[in-house]
Amino acid sequence: MLSDLDFVQSVEDDPANRPFITPWERVQHEGAIRFPDFRHFIAEAGEGWPSAGFVILQGCRSPHGAVELKRIVLQPKGLGYGRALVRLLAEMAFRDLGAHRFWLDVKEKNERALALYRDEGFVEEGRLRDSVRSGDGYESLIVMSMLRSEHEARMKETSP
Ligand SMILES: CC(C)(COP(=O)(O)OP(=O)(O)OC[C@H]1O[C@@H](n2cnc3c(N)ncnc32)[C@H](O)[C@@H]1OP(=O)(O)O)[C@@H](O)C(=O)NCCC(=O)NCCS
Repeated sequence: MLSDLDFVQSVEDDPANRPFITPWERVQHEGAIRFPDFRHFIAEAGEGWPSAGFVILQGCRSPHGAVELKRIVLQPKGLGYGRALVRLLAEMAFRDLGAHRFWLDVKEKNERALALYRDEGFVEEGRLRDSVRSGDGYESLIVMSMLRSEHEARMKETSP
């Protein structure tokens, strides 16, 4: 909700997160909340973390069924919430949004996120070389995706 945006911006401004994301202007967040192609969520993680972070999905109305995990940021790190959230979002993309493809890009130096996405079944598609400014230079982005068939196979493997 619009009332969550102070929190969202404080998470984006946190030096622990800033190297890994490209923060948006408030008006972009406002647009994402209003525009139906986006879903803008607060992640809740129980009593200790009623607002643990946030997620933005894009392409929710894509005629190609290509849903993008545009942003995921969690304040409690290394506690397993990221993995749980990525699983939930994949389920949401394929089951609720009818995605054929769930994809994202990640900065090549973001080892934590890369390890998580690989482990959760995302496949590396390629590298967008020197795509984002970083200090005096540029950083490359790695594009990753999971297809519906891959997600279904994964679900079968893990279901009891
Ligand atoms: C990326 C992020 C969402 C992951 O969430 P998280 O709750 O920290 O991750 P989890 O605790 O679920 O860890 C999942 C896996 O990430 C990897 N990981 C976690 N911490 C790591 C670290 N410091 N270095 C390398 N890999 C790490 C591990 O593979 C881990 O799985 P395991 O503990 O079972 O081995 C979160 O750390 C975050 O918000 N980071 C800052 C913003 C960001 O990078 N967003 C993603 C942009 S693409």
